[in-house]
Amino acid sequence: MPFPESRPRRLRTRPALRRLVAEASLEPRHLVLPMFVAEGRTEPAPIPGMPGVVQHSRASLRRAASEAVEAGVGGLMIFGVPEPQSKDALGSAGADADGILNTALADVVAEVGADTVVMADLCLDEFTDHGHCGLLDANGRVDNDATLEQYSLLAVAQAEAGVHVVAPSGMMDGQVAAIRAGLDSAGHTEVAILAYTAKYASAFYGPFREAVASTLRGDRRTYQQDPANRREASREALLDLDEGADLLLVKPALSYLDVLTDVVGVSDVPVGAYNVSGEYSMVEAAVRAGYLDRRAAVTEILTSIRRAGAAFLLTYWAAEAAGWIRGDSK
Ligand code: PBG
Repeated sequence: MPFPESRPRRLRTRPALRRLVAEASLEPRHLVLPMFVAEGRTEPAPIPGMPGVVQHSRASLRRAASEAVEAGVGGLMIFGVPEPQSKDALGSAGADADGILNTALADVVAEVGADTVVMADLCLDEFTDHGHCGLLDANGRVDNDATLEQYSLLAVAQAEAGVHVVAPSGMMDGQVAAIRAGLDSAGHTEVAILAYTAKYASAFYGPFREAVASTLRGDRRTYQQDPANRREASREALLDLDEGADLLLVKPALSYLDVLTDVVGVSDVPVGAYNVSGEYSMVEAAVRAGYLDRRAAVTEILTSIRRAGAAFLLTYWAAEAAGWIRGDSK
């Protein structure tokens, strides 16, 4: 029997050696926590499909934001959930300085703005009575160009609330250019754009739609990408870069790690990934059933997203995982 010529196991023999040669790392600063704030709430309310995640009141959002920053997260992504009577066909509450998202953004910026990156979802679906990410034309179709004007108003309102990064998630063509122009002409040249570049029409947004009390009927297949497509994501990335995106995002993460790696390859700006609600809920459900070791599974998932090339990642586990990582390095 000849001895093996090469022995990769040699580098796996001791924890210190494995640590030395680890290719991907996970640090608290890589983790961005998505948070929901609901109009009219006085107490946080659990979201049934997402155990451990809540719809915040304005006060509980401030407290949770400060705890997450204390845990070391890299940033916060805020989503607003208006009351049904605040929704209309134009999603006007999104651009209203007194609307739930913009008031909550101002709260969070006042609370932790000096210590973290405050980001806002820039979309209409939470604010429209029909639940689509854009305005509808007379035939009920999503009107791309009319939507762009509305996005630009939302961006300016969020900037006035003090946000650092706006994150257009509606997948309208030309959204980055329209938002950049809107921000710049209002003097907000420092507000950065995190462009949802490759956002797929995914079943894994199910629990989120419950979290934001979505009124959507039908689906978003005329604007979100087809899960069958890979090369199209690079095309979207080049367009977003050309339009002035500062950061790119791929969403969901786990079924799209190939897409993430491709987008990282064509991008000269940092690329993030969004580990979405359904990806979170699947793990939490399996843990509750006793099928998975929670901390090991979560750590492996988040590390895999980093390994695929994400500079940062959005995850509902952000604050908790940041705490684990900090605990380990003590
Ligand atoms: C749309 C939006 C969605 C998510 C965030 N913003 C998805 C959608 O309803 O199409 C999903 C986030 C998640 O599932 O965690 N503005």
